[in-house]
Amino acid sequence: MTDKLIPLKIAGIGYSVPQTVITNDDLTKLYETSDEWIYTRTGIKERRVVSGTQDAIDLGLEAAKKALGKAKMSPDEIDLIIAATSAPPDLYPAMACRLHERLGISHAVPAFDLTAACTGLIYGLSVAKAYIASGMYKNILLVASDNNSRLVDWTDRGTSILFGDGAGAMVLTQAEDGVDDIISIDIKADGNFGNLIELAFDGKNCPLVEQCEEKPKGIRMNGRGVYTFVAKILPKYVEEMLEDAGMKAEDVDYLIPHQANIRIIQAVQERLGYSDDKVVANIKYYGNTSAASIPLAIAESVEKGNVKLGSTAILCGFGAGMTWGGAIVRLREGIC
Ligand code: UT7
Repeated sequence: MTDKLIPLKIAGIGYSVPQTVITNDDLTKLYETSDEWIYTRTGIKERRVVSGTQDAIDLGLEAAKKALGKAKMSPDEIDLIIAATSAPPDLYPAMACRLHERLGISHAVPAFDLTAACTGLIYGLSVAKAYIASGMYKNILLVASDNNSRLVDWTDRGTSILFGDGAGAMVLTQAEDGVDDIISIDIKADGNFGNLIELAFDGKNCPLVEQCEEKPKGIRMNGRGVYTFVAKILPKYVEEMLEDAGMKAEDVDYLIPHQANIRIIQAVQERLGYSDDKVVANIKYYGNTSAASIPLAIAESVEKGNVKLGSTAILCGFGAGMTWGGAIVRLREGIC
């Protein structure tokens, strides 16, 4: 421990998506819908889903290896693993423990999962920031990976159209040059809106006592309610985050938001007065990949040349809880 706060460096970012593409037209085989209906309301054309035995751990592992490669760090140098996930294949062992094993880390390190739904990456970043600032851990692997295609109800056309599977990972370390890549970060939750998106955990009481009511299976979402809640809070929240950091919208190069609905992304864009080239929107090809969506959006847009590194970005997300959060970050050269 140290009495001076240690700055954080984002050293590497990676992503991974499954090969299998499900288009809006494919979904018409499952229920009454159309590409036009889905695209105009959400901005989604297709999403990737896992198939066979592939799961969120496989995706997370690939993303983690890419992030470690960019950070030029070996898995053995990692001293904490955080997995941000709300759609893991198992409740335990934690995804972070599975990743510890799959990465072949030869010694014991702390590893835990963190559930903040689609805000998971920002929550994880905030936890990592505090650990690095305190000097408690030096090299943190943050993996955001969700496998919602196994948890949605594929008969519910209001919800299953939205989600896709994917993973993103970040390697976070101490910034030896003294420049903190997290210019500002904030996380929030309001449990009063918890019933807007729910995934009940299966289970029955002991057979010797009165039984509890059986809960509905799969993700239940009040889409209209989520949309109204988020459209009301998020643009204002992002504006206030900038103000609190003593910055103006024009001081930041990009907006890289959680990809849940193109109309919500546009509402934040409009509030910031950003042109399209300053806003990352890849929802068209991946749908809502939950906690993975922000690191996936960063790394994929850099790969495509839509985001230049050596820049700054506003990250913001929201999800079940309801949770929300944002960060203003520096994206150094060479991180993805
Ligand atoms: O991390 C998760 C975050 N979640 C979100 O960000 C969700 C935000 N919300 C949304 O994106 C939108 O609310 C949806 C795209 C989910 C739904 O759009 P909407 O305009 O709010 O539709 P709605 O739920 O109010 O439904 C309007 C109508 C209904 O028909 P009736 O009752 O008016 O006859 C639905 O049954 O649209 C119908 N509908 C569909 N029609 C064709 C619902 N889903 C579909 C569909 N295709 N896939």
